[in-house]
Amino acid sequence: MEERIVSGAAEVNELHEEQSLRPQTLAQYIGQEQVKNNLAIFIEAARQRQETLDHVLLYGPPGLGKTTLAAVIANEMGVQMRTTSGPAIERPGDLAAILTALEPGDVLFIDEIHRLPRAIEEILYPAMEDFCLDIVIGKGPSARSVRLDLPPFTLIGATTRAGSLSAPLRDRFGVLSRLEYYNKDQLKDVVMRTADIFGTEIDPSGAEEVARRSRGTPRIANRLLKRVRDYAQVRGNGTVTFEVAEEALELLQVDRMGLDHIDHKLLKAIIERFRGGPVGIDTIAASIGEEAETIEDVYEPYLLQIGFLQRTPRGRVVSELVYSHFHMEVPAE
Ligand code: ADE
Repeated sequence: MEERIVSGAAEVNELHEEQSLRPQTLAQYIGQEQVKNNLAIFIEAARQRQETLDHVLLYGPPGLGKTTLAAVIANEMGVQMRTTSGPAIERPGDLAAILTALEPGDVLFIDEIHRLPRAIEEILYPAMEDFCLDIVIGKGPSARSVRLDLPPFTLIGATTRAGSLSAPLRDRFGVLSRLEYYNKDQLKDVVMRTADIFGTEIDPSGAEEVARRSRGTPRIANRLLKRVRDYAQVRGNGTVTFEVAEEALELLQVDRMGLDHIDHKLLKAIIERFRGGPVGIDTIAASIGEEAETIEDVYEPYLLQIGFLQRTPRGRVVSELVYSHFHMEVPAE
């Protein structure tokens, strides 16, 4: 898969850099209003009762702030957050080591929780439900099971695919929150806030242009802002104006809808080779030389979100919006 500047997935080092941009409180966290309003109540209620917060599952496309929100929740609860990820926990002992090291009330954040091995999931059930751990010591006839008490904790799981979580695991979360793509105004606020942290001068119209091309995704907005800031410094006087943002983003080949050459390739293939569809995902995949799964997980979600692509029982169809975006005529039926 190619590297894309408009990918929601984090690049190497990016997670570390994002730390300095992270909001600390719900009040500082921009967007996701419904999720925030609910969490604010659950957090306050748990604090009043001096209990741990119920386990929380955060799901939605990459780059929308699941890790950030988990850190905000821990901060608002006044507890520490321990971070791990589904693929990092390979053996039962890995999970046991993490769980037994928790302090009472801590948040355990498991990113990509849908990639947790099934055998590990089963250890997690009693840990989530009763704060205890059943571990088997020894092998063969002398093997015995011991039960370890754990400190009460809050599990926050994050996933891009809630559908691939097993039902028993999903059912053990008290709070399920879906993060949505950000609208342009919210993204503009994110860009203005980040520019402020960077100490970069930015016009509201410059921030708006970065926001427009960021696919509803703060991580992309912050990434594009960095490149636009470079352009402003070298080609302009350091201020991100509308013109600077537009020129820099054209140079990066991110178009006015935030589409890059991969989106163009996908959409044009459907138009030019399959008359706009409907065409099956496997046929598209073979035609552009990509995995069907990559198209479904990475390329499609934003195109579906903006209505450029539609899923029908007979396959994918491009909408009329795509033709006008490319200045093409809509073909007669
Ligand atoms: N930076 C990235 N995402 C953010 C958000 N939702 N609110 C504030 N700053 C952010």
